[in-house]
Amino acid sequence: MTGLSDSFQRPINYLRISVTDRCNLRCVYCMPVGGVCPLAHDDILRYEEILTIARAAAEMGIDKIRLTGGEPLVRAGLPELVAMLAAIGTINDISLTTNGVLLARYAAELKSAGLNRVNVSLDSLKPDKFREITRSDAKLADVLEGIETAGRVGLEPVKLNMVVIPGVNDDEVLDFAAKTIDEEWHVRFIELMPVVGETENPQFVAASEMKKRIERLGKLEPCLPSVGNGPAKYFRLPDARGTIGFITPVSEHFCFNCNRLRLTADGKLRPCLLSDYEVDLKGPLRGGVAAEGLKKLIEEAVANKPQQHHIAEGDVPRRRPFSQVGG
Ligand code: 5AD
Ligand code: SF4
Repeated sequence: MTGLSDSFQRPINYLRISVTDRCNLRCVYCMPVGGVCPLAHDDILRYEEILTIARAAAEMGIDKIRLTGGEPLVRAGLPELVAMLAAIGTINDISLTTNGVLLARYAAELKSAGLNRVNVSLDSLKPDKFREITRSDAKLADVLEGIETAGRVGLEPVKLNMVVIPGVNDDEVLDFAAKTIDEEWHVRFIELMPVVGETENPQFVAASEMKKRIERLGKLEPCLPSVGNGPAKYFRLPDARGTIGFITPVSEHFCFNCNRLRLTADGKLRPCLLSDYEVDLKGPLRGGVAAEGLKKLIEEAVANKPQQHHIAEGDVPRRRPFSQVGG
């Protein structure tokens, strides 16, 4: 195995696979107000097609896979896909990003299929606020039960992602941080990125400001992530059981460390979340391309991975909302 690297010498070993663009929630920061037109069933990659792509990518050096959406657990039979990916044999880390609503139901099955761990998106600990942000009738209690069940069946560490939205949930940064003291919660605060279709530049709370607020609870000591080497910087409050991470796509980009590729539900390989550039794999795959041809296309996407995003200058992707790219 040679290993992949892009034209800026970044090693690429991480593939995020969006298995569906559908979601049982409609989070304000993820979907435009008018909603999104769902992809047609036939446009979505079948599990066998995802496996073919993942195998080719694994032979090129991808050894970490994350399943995303939309909401991956709304796609039927997800544990089967996990088992298929685990059977490749060279993927060291298979993880899932979920909104947690259906997690309690599937956690045990996912674990036995070979899933290693989950990240749960949770933006409020208040039921009313949760409904407002997710624009849905889903129950916060179901998500909390999902988090608890995931930990119990060993999908650990469970990381919680909170997108901090000024004036909406930024008053809860302290509540989430406080939770890490007594519980083994690994909370990551994420700066709000601009949403496709909403033209004006949104406000965001910079991580430096969140940190300042959290330090009312005690000094934040830097620490290493318990697992993974993603973009978050981690800290711990004095004697806390859990950790606090900050993900700063807006105030301080981490593109120089980016090791990832994204596969959209309709089979496009996208080397950067924040650029519209994509390489189509589905067409060639359905046209009967051989493994070598597929690898050439993967190489092409990697070779064209942009050096960094430019959202600070207002340059945001226009074609797809995050709900189609998996965040
Ligand atoms: N800003 C920041 N993070 C986002 N995500 C989706 N949309 C945004 C946005 N506008 C991320 C969140 C969420 C995951 C599915 O994608 O982390 O938990
Ligand atoms: Fe669904 Fe996640 Fe997007 Fe919310 S952020 S609408 S849970 S995909």
